[in-house]
Amino acid sequence: MGCRALLLLPFLSFGAATTIRSGVKTLGSLHLPTNPTSEPAVANNYSVLYFQQKVDHFGFSDTRTFKQRYLISDKHWQKNGGSILFYTGNEGDIVWFCNNTGFMWDVAEELKAMLVFAEHRYYGESLPFGKDSFKDSQHLNFLTSEQALADFAELIRHLKRTIPGAENQPVIAIGGSYGGMLAAWFRMKYPHIVVGALAASAPIWQFENLVPCGVFMKIVTEDYRKSGPHCAESIRRSWDAINRISSAGSGLQWLTKALHLCSPLTSGSIPNLKEWISETWVNLAMVDYPYEANFLQPLPAWPIKVVCQYLKNPNVSDTVLLQNIFQALNIYYNYSGQAKCLNISQTTTSSLDTVGWNYQSCTEMVMPFCTNGVDDMFEPYLWDLKKFSEECFNQWKVKPRPHWITTLYGGKNISSHSNIIFSNGDLDPWSGGGVTKDISDTLVAINIPEGAHHLDLRANTAFDPATVLSSRLLEVKHMKRWISDYYGSDRRQP
Ligand SMILES: *[C@@H]1O[C@H](CO)[C@@H](O)[C@H](O)[C@H]1NC(C)=O
Ligand SMILES: *[C@@H]1O[C@H](CO)[C@@H](O)[C@H](O)[C@H]1NC(C)=O
Ligand SMILES: *[C@@H]1O[C@H](CO)[C@@H](O)[C@H](O)[C@H]1NC(C)=O
Ligand SMILES: *[C@@H]1O[C@H](CO)[C@@H](O)[C@H](O)[C@H]1NC(C)=O
Ligand SMILES: *[C@@H]1O[C@H](CO)[C@@H](O)[C@H](O)[C@H]1NC(C)=O
Ligand SMILES: *[C@@H]1O[C@H](CO)[C@@H](O)[C@H](O)[C@H]1NC(C)=O
Repeated sequence: MGCRALLLLPFLSFGAATTIRSGVKTLGSLHLPTNPTSEPAVANNYSVLYFQQKVDHFGFSDTRTFKQRYLISDKHWQKNGGSILFYTGNEGDIVWFCNNTGFMWDVAEELKAMLVFAEHRYYGESLPFGKDSFKDSQHLNFLTSEQALADFAELIRHLKRTIPGAENQPVIAIGGSYGGMLAAWFRMKYPHIVVGALAASAPIWQFENLVPCGVFMKIVTEDYRKSGPHCAESIRRSWDAINRISSAGSGLQWLTKALHLCSPLTSGSIPNLKEWISETWVNLAMVDYPYEANFLQPLPAWPIKVVCQYLKNPNVSDTVLLQNIFQALNIYYNYSGQAKCLNISQTTTSSLDTVGWNYQSCTEMVMPFCTNGVDDMFEPYLWDLKKFSEECFNQWKVKPRPHWITTLYGGKNISSHSNIIFSNGDLDPWSGGGVTKDISDTLVAINIPEGAHHLDLRANTAFDPATVLSSRLLEVKHMKRWISDYYGSDRRQP
């Protein structure tokens, strides 16, 4: 695997440096029998506003500014005893995150909360230099988590100054994936601004050697192992089948046709093909939700189980195995029935920005990933920082600083902080780099056995497993305590 990941979400991109993919969006009628749709209700009543931010919060010579987009909803907000829930935006369009964070809309009334969704700089419409934002390393220089956190802090100060009644209210940071890491780090760095943070599926330890580099793909593999007999084994065998077929006479043409690919394969594109297939399995692991949903792609409920129905028998010929692999991929790429062909340059929604994340993973967000083909179903891949660093330099003219995040945010040594909930789904490969055990009374872990990538942040549905419902209740309980602690202390009495 040339290695690109998805942190999703986003998270997105494993590593850097290979081809940059933008997303597909296929919507349309369903062609498979399924449950009635349970796509969560969409949160759509909010105002879209812009706030003038400094391009550089950490120096005095640069006075340029840009407009940061944010969304605000005050339907359930109460000036008396209310709160402010602040979504720390991650690597994509903030409207998309807003659409996919039904949890905040579900709890707004109970917490008498104003909802704010702040877009991360360099994503969506919040581009510091417009279309030149990604032009070169000079323009990208201000794309860091520190600058993003400073944007959030300035925005909250602004809201408190300008919205009557907001000034003396507690703010809670909420985020998922990279946004969850930002929520946790925001509470660590700005404890005077937010009373607590809900960090959902936040792999704050997927750095340096804090966790084994193979843990991510091991969890992906486990999901396939558990979702159908011989499923992971079939996938493991598919790599050699691809090698054998693609090196035979008319194998490339056969494979192009069998996988319904848009463009003919060449022997040089076989590594890309394998990467694209690997990334598809990874994405499915992130969005293995219990109901039909459209996050990265429109998908059925428990999509890995559906995929695995095609991968029950590893003891078949190479051609049959790869035809089965096509059927499985087709669930991810063609559940809507609209795909004309499969494009190995695309794996996910265009609401996630893989270019920005690719740069971030080449600078601060250096996440080591590896596979060994034994504990996981992928071809062996060694983490090679030197090579990674060179690829980053070729692409961006900058080199990663792998130690910076742990220097900045403490790595595992974070016990002096307080009021952070780390929630993780056991099905989510990112849980491997997450905090899954309590660190103290107020740095707590919530594990959701049947949860994929920040399932808890999605809206309540009738199809939610009991474990995610109880996790959401527990999260609200913690948030209520932070709010009452805030109002209970004399100095902050409104
Ligand atoms: C949307 O929000 C505005 C302002 O908060 C409110 O006046 C309006 O009634 C809301 N509309 C709906 C459909 O809820
Ligand atoms: C968000 O949801 C609305 C309402 O369903 C939809 O029109 C819009 O396209 C969505 N936006 C994104 C970026 O997902
Ligand atoms: C596949 O074949 C091997 C060797 O013949 C055998 O041990 C194994 O049980 C078979 N697996 C399945 C799922 O049929
Ligand atoms: C997608 O599904 C539709 C409907 O079943 C089918 O006609 C079409 O050929 C499929 N596309 C691909 C790429 O297989
Ligand atoms: C495949 O995806 C790439 C990247 O998004 C795009 O440039 C290309 O046009 C797509 N090819 C086809 C045939 O859709
Ligand atoms: C964290 O604490 C451990 C044990 O006290 C120590 O070995 C390690 O160097 C510390 N790491 C950082 C980044 O301070």
